[in-house]
Amino acid sequence: MNPLEETLRDEIRRDGPMRFDRFMDAALYRPALGYYMRHRDPFGVDGDFFTASQLQPVFGQLIAVRIRQIWMECERPEHFSVVELGPGRGEMRQWASPFAYRCVGPEDDLPEEIHGVVFANEFFDALPVRAGAMLHGELREFFVAAKRDEFIFAPGAPFQNENAEYVRRYWPALAEGCKFEIGAQALLWIDRISRALRSGRLVAIDYGYSTRESVRFTEGTLMTYRRHIASGDVLREVGQRDITAHVCFTALEARARLGGMLNVGVESFAATLLAALPLAPKTIMDDPRNRQQLKTLLYGMGECFRTLHTCAP
Ligand SMILES: C[S@@+](CC[C@H](N)C(=O)[O-])C[C@H]1O[C@@H](n2cnc3c(N)ncnc32)[C@H](O)[C@@H]1O
Repeated sequence: MNPLEETLRDEIRRDGPMRFDRFMDAALYRPALGYYMRHRDPFGVDGDFFTASQLQPVFGQLIAVRIRQIWMECERPEHFSVVELGPGRGEMRQWASPFAYRCVGPEDDLPEEIHGVVFANEFFDALPVRAGAMLHGELREFFVAAKRDEFIFAPGAPFQNENAEYVRRYWPALAEGCKFEIGAQALLWIDRISRALRSGRLVAIDYGYSTRESVRFTEGTLMTYRRHIASGDVLREVGQRDITAHVCFTALEARARLGGMLNVGVESFAATLLAALPLAPKTIMDDPRNRQQLKTLLYGMGECFRTLHTCAP
């Protein structure tokens, strides 16, 4: 067992089985030990996974076009900034120019007042989720227990109130044994953004599903990544693997509307890229490497990733 696993095992022995969202939070964000808090770069060839942000310059150039379009749609305000949630390596900073850029990492607060663009790429899928399964007709919550030197899922009490309501709304077709997640933290982030964004847009790219598609994920959507190999075994090598859950875009859209956001919509990531392409510098496609990047973005990610876009209330 590694030091984080030992600590979690001791906490579970002391306090009893741990809710999965707390386990995921520790696995990813426990200071000094969590996956995103260690001095190791998880991205790229030598890391565990790629995101679109590593496909530079094409991803950056196309997003820069979208940011500029938004600035023009907002009638070219003098004070306009780009706030990026979960910036990872920070590749997007250079593309925010000429606007002010601010990044919000796990230890930062969202600015109280934002005029401009809130941008997020694979941020919402990295937020801890609650998890459970339909067992004997009940929506039972998953806890994590320690058994000798490994962690196992242990079903606990049924979900109640707003959590049960979330599952009924966004996972409406659960059969016996089917698993699900509740992205409660993602909803809180949408609330925060709705309050902070005084003018401009939210642009959030991620992989996910709509309520209608949730029926495809009978095992839920939790995944881990290590050295470019995906697996569903989220309780192993804790702190050494990324853990993600697909984003429920229907839930984010509904929450954004509830917070008063306007023109809330979801489109495929391919549609976002294709809308920006005609306005990107013509030289972008001269380089064969750039053409390959665009192909990867469009065909590798374009349909399974989506973009949530909304206007400030
Ligand atoms: C999958 S990575 C994506 C990084 C980058 N956006 C990219 O596209 O390469 C998720 C990022 O979200 C950050 N993150 C997770 N929870 C956060 C929080 N509560 N506040 C700010 N950043 C957070 C992580 O530290 C990590 O950098």
